[in-house]
Amino acid sequence: MNDDDRSLLERRKKVLGTGTPLFYDQPLHLVRGEGAWVFDAQGRRYLDVYNNVPHVGHCHPHVVEAASRQLAALNINTRYLHDNVVDYAERLTATTDYAQAGVFFTCTGTESNELALRIARHVTGGTGIIASSFNYHGNSAVLASICTAFPVPEAFPDFARLVQVPDPYRHRQGRTDADLANHYLDEARAAIASLQADGVKLAALLIDPSFANEGLPEYVPGYLAGLVDMVRAAGGIVIADEVQSGFGRTGAAMWAHQYHGIVPDIITTGKPMGNGFPIGSVISTYDVIDEFGRSANYFNTFGGNPVATAAGAAVLDVIENEGLIANAARVGAYVGERMNGLMARHEIIGNVRCRGMFFGLELVADRATKAPSPLAGKVVNAMKDKGVLLSRIGPFDNILKMRPSMVFTCEQADILLAALDETLEEVAR
Ligand SMILES: Cc1ncc(COP(=O)(O)O)c(C=O)c1O
Repeated sequence: MNDDDRSLLERRKKVLGTGTPLFYDQPLHLVRGEGAWVFDAQGRRYLDVYNNVPHVGHCHPHVVEAASRQLAALNINTRYLHDNVVDYAERLTATTDYAQAGVFFTCTGTESNELALRIARHVTGGTGIIASSFNYHGNSAVLASICTAFPVPEAFPDFARLVQVPDPYRHRQGRTDADLANHYLDEARAAIASLQADGVKLAALLIDPSFANEGLPEYVPGYLAGLVDMVRAAGGIVIADEVQSGFGRTGAAMWAHQYHGIVPDIITTGKPMGNGFPIGSVISTYDVIDEFGRSANYFNTFGGNPVATAAGAAVLDVIENEGLIANAARVGAYVGERMNGLMARHEIIGNVRCRGMFFGLELVADRATKAPSPLAGKVVNAMKDKGVLLSRIGPFDNILKMRPSMVFTCEQADILLAALDETLEEVAR
């Protein structure tokens, strides 16, 4: 770090507090982005393999132009008629499996999930929530209280229960997919029974269908469908948090729940939706949206404003025009194959996860015991020094997490793979 960046860091601590997170031991001071690349204040470029918010690439000209044009014309709340808002709502809801869908717009993933929980409680008359044992769905009072992925000061609430998500790498123990799914479904059954025993009526299952924060574990066929049936039988509804996994990231469908073959009752979105311009949504059947809107008079000052929806529509244009879902499938397959090649050379790689434009490498200290490697942080920092940005996640903080923008290419993947090859070699020494 140079003196200017050190001084900026000190000023930041003094005004934002020391707990406001920053990536990397030596934080990066970024000033510009283009496609899959970002540039620091000294002009050094980094390959961004981590940030999923610039979904169609940093500063994509089509999104910049659409949002700028609208910003120069009018930006106002959604209590007025505006073509952008209605056009985008129609286009977005048409990507779902609902025959007639409706949508509320928000500004963040947190707002989307919080609103989805309010709707679930309203629809079911229950309060109970089931979430994964390593979850992050946002920073509101309710979502923070059920969060287990990060330390929070809130007490875990009586109305929530946690279930482990399937992790075949760690828990298969010779079991077939069906046995493994049943093993985890038994746990969910017990969680629902425990709520009922405490007199708590189930309102919702809140899950990311790709289990991104959990480390993108291999999918166990039958698990999600079984879970959905079980929750509905207990009177609850299913909220699919597509904040990370939506908008084509799986490379197979617009939504991760479609890839996994389930139809949730509510879909929540955020991060990638406006390519960095804040916009999120809660999508459900028209009847649910209409009824809740009339009961709760839901209104969100900034949510889905004409600029945000212009950005959102431009993101959909780029996904379609540049064939980005197919690109995610193609580049993802390429990366998966080569990451398996890396695994053959590096003992530290215990498991490779690739699903479209989302890649994970679980690092272990010992392949036989699967003891988590403590070196993931070192790898992430060393990769940054080599000009490649990624991060780590998972219950043991040992899974390298990579979610580049959907415009990521095989040539850029080669840069990532070469840097990983070198770095893993170095940390092993
Ligand atoms: C799966 C998931 N849901 C919700 C959120 C919250 O989104 P936001 O930070 O926009 O409130 C996040 C943020 O990391 C997330 O990963």
